[in-house]
Amino acid sequence: MKSSSINPNVFSAILLFFAVFTVILIASPVSVRIEPNQSAAQSPIEYTLRTIMGQQPPMAFIGVGGSIDGLINPELKAEVGDTVRLTLINGDPVAHDLAVPDFGVKTPQLLKVDETATLEFVVDRPGSFTYLCDIPGHKEVGMIGQLTITGEATGAPQVAMQPMAQMIPTAAPVDPAAVSIVHSPSDVPAPVGDRAPTLVRVDLVAQEVSGLLADGTSYTYFTFNGTVPGPMIRVRVGDTVELHMKNDIGSGFVHSIDLHAVTGPGGGAVFTQTKPGEETAFTFEALNPGLYVYHCATPSVAHHITSGMYGLILVEPVGGLPPVDREFYVMQGEMYTVQPFGTAGHLDFSHEKMLDEQAEYFTFNGAAGALTADAYALRANVGETVRIFFGVGGPNATSSFHVIGEIFDRVYEQASLTSDPLTNVQTTTVPPGGATMVEFRLEVPGRYILVDHALSRLERGLAGYLYVEGEPNITVFDGEMTAGSGH
Ligand code: CU
Ligand code: CU
Repeated sequence: MKSSSINPNVFSAILLFFAVFTVILIASPVSVRIEPNQSAAQSPIEYTLRTIMGQQPPMAFIGVGGSIDGLINPELKAEVGDTVRLTLINGDPVAHDLAVPDFGVKTPQLLKVDETATLEFVVDRPGSFTYLCDIPGHKEVGMIGQLTITGEATGAPQVAMQPMAQMIPTAAPVDPAAVSIVHSPSDVPAPVGDRAPTLVRVDLVAQEVSGLLADGTSYTYFTFNGTVPGPMIRVRVGDTVELHMKNDIGSGFVHSIDLHAVTGPGGGAVFTQTKPGEETAFTFEALNPGLYVYHCATPSVAHHITSGMYGLILVEPVGGLPPVDREFYVMQGEMYTVQPFGTAGHLDFSHEKMLDEQAEYFTFNGAAGALTADAYALRANVGETVRIFFGVGGPNATSSFHVIGEIFDRVYEQASLTSDPLTNVQTTTVPPGGATMVEFRLEVPGRYILVDHALSRLERGLAGYLYVEGEPNITVFDGEMTAGSGH
């Protein structure tokens, strides 16, 4: 016969057992405390990694010593409860770090060869985790490996010892040493005209510059020759260009150049991946006339472009371009900062916003409202003909380029200089990595505003002024001024 009732004697015995056990707990709690894992008190599990570049993958970690010696992106192993100590040695003169995001730890950035940093943290759960370099673009080209934790999960998760800095939108103070990085739109090389093809040497220097993004706001720009855009290069079809690419000794990143005027793999990027303090060079023949974008092509390419590494190269057709009175050089870009538009201080680049294409700033020639400042505004006179070499560095936003109050008499669409121009155009589309050449004659004095007609961007810094001086022309334009037009 089955019974579910408990024998009273057994029940008493259980009660007695718990009573005694409770007394033991109260009397000597230390003696029964259960350690999650005895090895936590033992010496840490140690690994040393060194950064390595210039092989396959292009950037990686290589094990130093012990079981991981010489292995690329070695698997690191530990058990639950272990203290893990990871030492990073910088093998290159560029910025790297080491992060284990799942455990909330990251070293500071290392900038110099043989600089080291150490992480120490307790692994509280089993699983497969990643370690990586958190410099934009580096994990994408190979700086990523696996940390495998074996064992049983402990009860309560432990708090990470060195929490990673939270991405909260506060900014460091504005850099008092920040300089203007704006390339003057009037700084255009002289026309090539009707000369024979020749050899042209071009020298570019990649410089990482603390620059003024807006009033009271600085940003770490990447530049060619210290300005955004970089210098305008002007050659003719048939010229051979000998391009020297230097990377400033103070740089934290590798830099390079891809010119859309080049015929050949990478547009030059395969020859010019240049470490800080080094110089590379290559030659190319300018086979196709046109107005072309050039830009840095080192991963993360979009990070280098948004930070300012773009410019234009003009390859004039045989016989040169028709003469005009004034030429200007303007390029559009957009910038992705952790902090919202208008935040004062030194702003940080946001890789996440860049991937989401959520720009905080839009710029002509590198800084918010740069070409509205007296120092950089475009200037011309009634009766003159104006030509604007306009390009989009981007990296992502297409421009609907427009000059408020003017009509483009001629648009060399997509910067094709060998096709007939379009005539009488209000707004022209210019894609990232693309350009246009527009021309118009000035009939009426006043202030004209260069915009992208996606006009929300005007409120994020995208505007430039063209001041036109001369006598009023009341047959073309006449009336009473009203307040509040903004023009
Ligand atoms: Cu790195
Ligand atoms: Cu670069």
